[in-house]
Amino acid sequence: MSEPTDTIALLHALEPTVETNLNRHLATAKEWFPHEYVPWSAGRDFNGIMGGEEWSPEQSQLPELARTSLIVNLLTEDNLPSYHYEIATTFGRDGAWGTWVHRWTAEEGRHGTAIRDYLTTTRAVDPVALERARMTHMEAGFANQQPGVLPSISYVSFQELATRVSHRNTGHVSGDPVCDQLLAKVAADENLHMLFYRNLLGAALELAPNGTMRAITDVVKSFQMPGHGIEGFGRKAVQIAMGGIYDLRIHHDEVLTPILRQLKVLDRTGLSGEGEKARDELAEFLAGLDAQATRFEEKRAAVQARKAARE
Ligand SMILES: [Fe+2]
Ligand SMILES: [Fe+2]
Repeated sequence: MSEPTDTIALLHALEPTVETNLNRHLATAKEWFPHEYVPWSAGRDFNGIMGGEEWSPEQSQLPELARTSLIVNLLTEDNLPSYHYEIATTFGRDGAWGTWVHRWTAEEGRHGTAIRDYLTTTRAVDPVALERARMTHMEAGFANQQPGVLPSISYVSFQELATRVSHRNTGHVSGDPVCDQLLAKVAADENLHMLFYRNLLGAALELAPNGTMRAITDVVKSFQMPGHGIEGFGRKAVQIAMGGIYDLRIHHDEVLTPILRQLKVLDRTGLSGEGEKARDELAEFLAGLDAQATRFEEKRAAVQARKAARE
């Protein structure tokens, strides 16, 4: 039996799954309010028209690592208009797909608002540098590296889990219970988004096993965080990896593996030659990534041991 490959056929065949999971999402998602997670009484006027105090780094106790990660996560959230454009043009704005696209966008819109209000009120980061970074990042936009329905569903499944882990771990290193609780709420949203897309990816594997296998393999092999276009991302990503917020080990063990295992991707049989090739390529890539993650962990441990010896 041949499997659907063209966009219209795939969207049509997956729509019942979208509807079921949209309803599940709406029944599960809990309403929450960003303003409740911002310590407004800690805020005061800035310089400029209010004549308040200019920002300076010692005004916040937040560790440098947490600041870097919060900036990366916020700028990532800021690019929502580009993400909306990508999913709206890939999935369409009609029927259950459209309802999901808009609902998802509305939920994501909360994240940037909440984090920015927190950072500005607590003077955790330089608001001028942050605004300039937002402008640069949004002006560059974001484009799907692998367009199409199946690669898009694959990418967002991993991406939602990656952002969940990243927000959650950033909260943990912040040392501020308010920040931790705020990021736990954001992470809970990301988790529900991941579940939606993961279920959809499972349905895609049933519907078009060979095409979906190829899409998953291509996406996993070239995966980049949604904020990879942020100015200075490489340097920031190293800091975030060294701090254990998001590194190759986490990416392999806590993002790729759980989704692939849940969907039994590597155990799939009954594939065509092309599908089998993609599955084997994925298994080989994951083994290489695992080894690379171990090398990174060893290198990091050595760096930390040298640093501890100097202190
Ligand atoms: Fe988000
Ligand atoms: Fe999300």
